[in-house]
Amino acid sequence: MVNKIFDLEKIRADFPILQRTVRDKPLVYLDNGATNLKPKYVVDVLSEHLLMGASNVHRGVHYLSEQATMNFESVREKVRKLINARSTEEIIFTSGTTIAINIIAKSFGTFLKQGDEVIISHMEHHSNIVPWQMLRDEKGIVLKVAPINDAGELDFPAFEKLITDRTRLVSMVWISNALGTINPVEKIIAAAHAKNIPVLLDGAQAIAHVQTDVQKLDVDFLVFSSHKMCGPTGVGVIYGKKELLNKMPPVIGGGDMIRSVTFEKTEYAGLPSKFEAGTPDIAGVIGFGAALDYLTSIGIDNIRAWEKELLTYGTQKLSAIKGLRIIGTAKEKVSIISFVLDDIHPHDVGSILDQEGIAVRAGHHCTQPVMQRFGVPATTRASFSFYNSKHDIDVLVAGISKVQEIFA
Ligand code: ALA
Repeated sequence: MVNKIFDLEKIRADFPILQRTVRDKPLVYLDNGATNLKPKYVVDVLSEHLLMGASNVHRGVHYLSEQATMNFESVREKVRKLINARSTEEIIFTSGTTIAINIIAKSFGTFLKQGDEVIISHMEHHSNIVPWQMLRDEKGIVLKVAPINDAGELDFPAFEKLITDRTRLVSMVWISNALGTINPVEKIIAAAHAKNIPVLLDGAQAIAHVQTDVQKLDVDFLVFSSHKMCGPTGVGVIYGKKELLNKMPPVIGGGDMIRSVTFEKTEYAGLPSKFEAGTPDIAGVIGFGAALDYLTSIGIDNIRAWEKELLTYGTQKLSAIKGLRIIGTAKEKVSIISFVLDDIHPHDVGSILDQEGIAVRAGHHCTQPVMQRFGVPATTRASFSFYNSKHDIDVLVAGISKVQEIFA
């Protein structure tokens, strides 16, 4: 664990993977938007649970089960504290952001009728498009898409105009995974709430990078994933206001989500169990708890400050490269830089960078409508995390020069 003083070298030493080589080159990991790296501490806590504490939760009367339940539930409290929810009943564990949005679409979707409207934006990840299209096919709801400008920012006046008497939900990404844009979530929520419309925020790219206070935001639903917060894959969270979640039906039936079962009738459990059928990813959740301890020991404000510096440095360096065009130049951004380079396909850029030990994502980033909006088939995306250094950016710049030399 590190202390509150931001010491990059000390932080980097917490991540053994940063010591390894890839293709005989020191690893430069710039694919944090896809998943970020795990500190040894998280893996130690997770493996300690699996080796010495493995047991099911909420079921046993024996010591190990009680300990596992206590450890598992303590993570719910850590999540509550991180986002300042009012109660742990408002924290539901899922297997990730995608399933979280799907659960809300299925469950909240039962309230929607033909002709009711859901507003999303043009910069959504597919996971905040497809579930609503499925609901559209099933129930005849109308899916409205708020446009974005050439910088990749939400066209706020156009968004406001989409709100009508039939709008039932605004479901929007907080921070775009493809562009890095930070959406004006306070304004979005205020505009929706002025008409009594609840708001779902996809926080997958946000929670590890910006301070989150769900009470201050007054957001109705917030979803995010552990694996983008230095935790294991397979764990995600739905935050929902209790009064909404209480009204919503469960989507998955089975063990742990019931109060009583007869063949005639099942009475569902209260929150949060109602939405957590079956054995959860206990080890994953416990590892997630360790990741939260780790992140908060560094401090989200320290993380934000260093990542801002990396974004400024990276943007300066990359903008200076002839033939490179940054896609996503919003005023409010996190440390994600998507770009296209001359007329070289991003897959080629990514493959050549890979030969240099540099990991970036190349493709449509599960945001094909964003690519369509900017008239590109794909981009190369460098996404930075708090353990990245300016040297990593210098290595990226040298790698891009190499790509250009090869294609010259
Ligand atoms: N949504 C993740 C990304 O942006 C996987 O790469």
